[in-house]
Amino acid sequence: MTKMLEETLDPASPAEWRSLGALGSRMVEDMVEHLASVRDRKVWQSPSGAARLALKGGAPEEPEGVARAYEDFLQHVRPFPTGNLHPRFYGWVMANGTPVAMLAEMLAAGMNFHLGGFDCAGALVEEQVIAWLKEMLGLPKATSGLLVSGGSIANLVGLVVARNAKAPVDVREEGLVAAPRMRVYASTETHSCVRKALEILGLGRASLCAVPVDGAFRVDVSALRRAIAEDRRLGYLPICVVGNAGTVNSGAVDDLDALAAVAEEEKLWFHVDGALGGPVALSPAHRSLVAGMERADSLAVDLHKWMHMPYEVGCVFVRDAEQHRSTFAHSPEYLAQMPRGLACRREMFSDLGVQLSRGFRALKVWMSIKAYGVGVFRRLIDQNIAQARLLGDLVEAEPELELMAPVSLNVVCFRYVGDRRRTAEELDALNREVLCRLHESGVVVPSYTTLHGRYCLRACITSHRSRSEDVAVLVREALRHGRALGARARASA
Ligand SMILES: Cc1ncc(COP(=O)(O)O)c(C=O)c1O
Repeated sequence: MTKMLEETLDPASPAEWRSLGALGSRMVEDMVEHLASVRDRKVWQSPSGAARLALKGGAPEEPEGVARAYEDFLQHVRPFPTGNLHPRFYGWVMANGTPVAMLAEMLAAGMNFHLGGFDCAGALVEEQVIAWLKEMLGLPKATSGLLVSGGSIANLVGLVVARNAKAPVDVREEGLVAAPRMRVYASTETHSCVRKALEILGLGRASLCAVPVDGAFRVDVSALRRAIAEDRRLGYLPICVVGNAGTVNSGAVDDLDALAAVAEEEKLWFHVDGALGGPVALSPAHRSLVAGMERADSLAVDLHKWMHMPYEVGCVFVRDAEQHRSTFAHSPEYLAQMPRGLACRREMFSDLGVQLSRGFRALKVWMSIKAYGVGVFRRLIDQNIAQARLLGDLVEAEPELELMAPVSLNVVCFRYVGDRRRTAEELDALNREVLCRLHESGVVVPSYTTLHGRYCLRACITSHRSRSEDVAVLVREALRHGRALGARARASA
């Protein structure tokens, strides 16, 4: 037999393994130092010309070596983050991550479990995490849950179950060819991923009934009732009500108890998007804000938002475990349950969602909860809500700023209005420029949205690193840039 030249990606000798380990130790030390010193750096800066150049071009055919790859990472990647590690990052809904979860990610990749549902300790860890989360969120014990990549997929999975449960046809067998026009109800403030999910589900955007909101951006429940009645009159098939536990724009929480009651009366599925505000249920002081969430038939909660985990991890819960399973389960012969051995588990995670091959995203959650304890996660919810209220108060105390929405959770929307003599269009343009300058300064990073048709700055405080003085910096800097722009406009008038 001729000897084949066989290769592997492992180091070739014990000495090479040791030097890889030494480099790994340096990586860990460097990243720990990077996290420890994050406050001393700019929140964000645009990737340099050199970085943009270095990060173009084809893949090397010949090895450059891990040391060189790491040096490139240090030079061209690490200095140009999105900024969400920083205590003064308040954009969109992004969390800091935790140092423990960072280390857990390395362990998870090292173990490289396949979490489709094989009999391994990783599966037990994921089951334990799901059980912990149900208890922490006050959900019924029999609820089924699955870790997914984030809120968009958690909402998608919940809505697939809703559609299949409520469609008058067997969607898995027949598809939607023979189905009537189904309708899903959600407030105008609902995250775009719900609309995207309905498109993916083949229900079409026309299946979404966007229900108006009240002055606090909460769904108008009477308008919802009217919309359902009108749809029935037109021959449509109402199937699902979506409630928001924290809207992306302003953090508004719909009256979830009222929505649960409507869904019950109308025999509709009740899905809650708790991607942002779901973890509020952890806090004894604030869980009443999301009361009714536990009545959902399906619930999406993000853990890479207000549970502080690094990307990606979210969770979907479905009250009727059998409905959940029967929506996704497939048992081809190559995955059939065996009496013993690696494939002996009855519950396959892959029967609860889209993915078959799934990674070990449970480990970072499990290690963080074990290392820090649940109590601190509860207190961080309270801390961020207190910081948001402080920010709201600071804004309201400044005559040159205008608060654009009530502060209900951790989101504060406001804008610079100066002496209030500018037109609405001028104010929109001015605040857009304030936003760009805030980002470019690297001092503090909010994001933006439009409320009441007006552009505004938006701070979402999901940071465990943020302190009260940090949110005060946002007010100071917004005023500084607003005033400078106002003065420049007056000088050129
Ligand atoms: C309320 C809400 N729902 C859903 C999502 C989508 O979640 P993800 O970005 O994790 O897919 C977001 C994201 O910000 C959100 O704020």
